[in-house]
Amino acid sequence: MIQYLIYRSLTDLTPFDAGYPHILMQSRMRNADLGVTGYLHWEDRIFHQWIEGPGEMLPIVEQIILVDRMHRDVTILDRGEAPVREFDGWSMAASASEGSSLFSFMVSSRTASCDHFAYAQSVLKFMKQQLLQADAMIDHDQLTDPSSS
Ligand SMILES: Cc1cc2nc3c(=O)[nH]c(=O)nc-3n(C[C@H](O)[C@H](O)[C@H](O)COP(=O)(O)O)c2cc1C
Repeated sequence: MIQYLIYRSLTDLTPFDAGYPHILMQSRMRNADLGVTGYLHWEDRIFHQWIEGPGEMLPIVEQIILVDRMHRDVTILDRGEAPVREFDGWSMAASASEGSSLFSFMVSSRTASCDHFAYAQSVLKFMKQQLLQADAMIDHDQLTDPSSS
């Protein structure tokens, strides 16, 4: 069994800030070392992240994330154990609202955000869907600044 965790948090960062690709790069390197996989979505200064991995490694990454001052007000939406990974092979998949909107997805799927379990399920569904739509997946290098167009 592997453990997983999904949370949302608030941030002042945007994907266009210098600190953002640094977070992604560091996360991917450390996650790869620890056998952790997952998905990070940024939208409207809100992060949603799914992390998953071995029970002895996930708490290490969780602790690093929780104390990171690049975000705040972390709300754990769900955590638990699962027989298989959702994001096998992705040290940290990433997307931003410029590619596809989680909030639009939530509205169209009629998910009540006060129901944390249903909320977590919807976010996971959105993330899995993004993996099937390669265009929505971002690397910071491929982002263009919408304010410049
Ligand atoms: C939204 C968010 C998600 C993060 N996700 C991970 C992660 O999946 N794995 C990890 O090791 N660190 C994660 N971190 C921590 C970053 O990797 C950390 O900010 C980065 O390593 C910068 O560290 P430094 O101050 O040592 O340069 C995350 C941080 C934030 C703010």
